Amino acid sequence: MATVMKDIELQPNIPTSVLFEKHANFIKEYSQKENSYEYGMTDYLRMSGMFWGLTALELMNTLPTQSKDEIAEFIKNCQDPESGGISACVKHDPHILHTLSAIQILCIYDNLNAIDVDGVVRYIVSLQLSDGSFMGDKWGEVDTRFSFCAVATLALLDRLNAIDMNQAVEFVMSCKNFDGGYGSRPLSESHAGLIYCCVGFLSITNRLDLVDRDTLAWWLCERQLPSGGLNGRPEKLPDVCYSWWVLSSLSILGRLHWIDAEALKKFILACQDTDTGGFADRPGDVADPFHTLFGIAAMSLLGYESVQKVNPTFCMPQHVIDRLQLKPQILT
Ligand code: FPP
Ligand code: ZN
Repeated sequence: MATVMKDIELQPNIPTSVLFEKHANFIKEYSQKENSYEYGMTDYLRMSGMFWGLTALELMNTLPTQSKDEIAEFIKNCQDPESGGISACVKHDPHILHTLSAIQILCIYDNLNAIDVDGVVRYIVSLQLSDGSFMGDKWGEVDTRFSFCAVATLALLDRLNAIDMNQAVEFVMSCKNFDGGYGSRPLSESHAGLIYCCVGFLSITNRLDLVDRDTLAWWLCERQLPSGGLNGRPEKLPDVCYSWWVLSSLSILGRLHWIDAEALKKFILACQDTDTGGFADRPGDVADPFHTLFGIAAMSLLGYESVQKVNPTFCMPQHVIDRLQLKPQILT
């Protein structure tokens, strides 16, 4: 059966370079809009939002070092003393995604001592179920995203041995599909975001031997459309964040060269907002910090000059991963 291909047409006048200064200003201004409606409506994303913004700034060599203590104080106030988990915002419920984001931020600032690390480990352990899967929080949603968040957090804390790793691997592998990809749960369709989570999980746990490497890399490189952009599943539009989810997975699998890098660079450059700064999901849409991080991080994987090297497994600056002496598995 033929599949429908949806795509966009790139307009002329695409910027020929990454507009670093505009993007740095965009992120800094975004974080200062504390009294705006938009800021108030995104409380539930705050911790991850901080990770996206701060990581993008560090990759562009403009991380505000003077904010280190203020940020640590915010994270400390988001840690629940009882469960040990960390929330998106003060007085919210803890969640494994925001717990990972907080740990990533503290690692970038080399400031893990600011919080109760044993509490975080206790929280991650409490979320593992008997089939090896992880819940996102105490309310019970299970997803392979949370398996990734669990092992990424523990690896950054050098505490991977706290969970049942064999069961955790078994659950992730039960989400593998006939096309080599992975979904959110057993029998769920392959999705590039969840492939990043599962391939990242297997990279951290040193079990990339379990991946159907070429079948999966083929599915991933088929995500590239004539515009040069990548989509997350067949029949979907291209989106800059999939430049990250797809490219990082191909990078871990040692198959980055299976896509047309020049065409993808052009698509990513076209997603920049030349007025406000920042990247949007597609050219002409409204820019946001999430797509800004993934636009910049993808450019790093493509070897763009003046962007720091990003680690494809952790989506963090490589120098931080080196400082922590972590060596997630990467196939060559
Ligand atoms: C697409 O989601 C993306 C995913 C499902 C992957 C999310 C990954 C994490 C939460 C792990 C932490 C990430 C990092 C970078 C450290 P979507 O809901 O936008 O999917 P859609 O495009 O199909 O709507
Ligand atoms: Zn997106």
